[in-house]
Amino acid sequence: MKRLLPTLRADQTSESLISVINTIQIAAKEISFRLHQGALAGVLGSTLDENIQGETQKKLDVVANQLLKTLLLESPNVHAIASEEEDSIVVSPNSGDYLVAFDPLDGSSNIDINGAVGTIFSILRKPGGEASGESMFLQPGKAQVAAGYVVYGPATMMVLTTGKDVRTFTLDQTVGEFLLTREKAEIPDSTKEFAINMSNQRHWGKAISEYIADLLQGEDGPRKKNFNMRWNAAMVADVHRIITRGGLFTYPWDKRNSAKPFKLRLMYEAAPMALLIEKAGGKASDGYQRLLDIVPTDIHQRVGVILGSAEEVEKCVDYHTKHPKPD
Ligand code: AHG
Ligand code: MN
Ligand code: MN
Repeated sequence: MKRLLPTLRADQTSESLISVINTIQIAAKEISFRLHQGALAGVLGSTLDENIQGETQKKLDVVANQLLKTLLLESPNVHAIASEEEDSIVVSPNSGDYLVAFDPLDGSSNIDINGAVGTIFSILRKPGGEASGESMFLQPGKAQVAAGYVVYGPATMMVLTTGKDVRTFTLDQTVGEFLLTREKAEIPDSTKEFAINMSNQRHWGKAISEYIADLLQGEDGPRKKNFNMRWNAAMVADVHRIITRGGLFTYPWDKRNSAKPFKLRLMYEAAPMALLIEKAGGKASDGYQRLLDIVPTDIHQRVGVILGSAEEVEKCVDYHTKHPKPD
């Protein structure tokens, strides 16, 4: 079976990009090991600190962030990192060609219950010219040179694109190597599965309310088919299901907290997942435009997310064209 780095070398990926991906896989193996140790590693539970997003950090969020940050900043090919768990970008003393944005531990409420969690990463080229500081990172998702996630479930898997096919590598725990287990993900165009946090229903806007109401009517409604629902409370796990067998995932605008109408972050969650989904034949939108076209104005910006099987995403977007964008 092919290992991760030789697979990338075989399709002429540059050595500098391979080296950045190698650094991420080293961090991922360590995170995977610690997660699998569970309570034995003494890492469960919350710290008292709150991160920039105003959510209580789990200890493993801190550990995963520290590992990725330290290893990436030591890489000669990385110029700077941006993390969901850091207030600002961190610039490396090295003058590498790449910028890496990451969500070190996604779905962190699953840690305590031994549920699936993940790491999401996005690799951008450092822009030439004047750009410096945070503005270097403010590139649309379509500019990513690579994106991927690692899902720590019953198996640890890395799903990766360097702009071509979406490949899946499974961590062989006995030899400590990610091995190629799926050459090319292909998301079916249609689906009967959707993923949304239904408990927010009363806070949704008109477009999503009407779309979900029609799905719930099943065979008796306008969609004339029965839908099933799944929600992992970890975007990585929900997206992994969609990469594997199709489906629709959405975390839409809602009015629970007017200061925070969206939950997911554009740079650490939406953009890398959108690249993977599109490269696997699916679609990804905020309801009004392609997620990969959105130019971030802030590294911690949040956004509405609809992604998955192409026909279903198009259907969902149709409901958005009927209703004005909520402010
Ligand atoms: P994070 O743990 O990085 O903060 O992300 C959690 C995100 C995402 O992974 C998931 O889809 C969603 O939040 C879960 O939200 P609910 O709490 O509404 O289930
Ligand atoms: Mn997350
Ligand atoms: Mn996180």
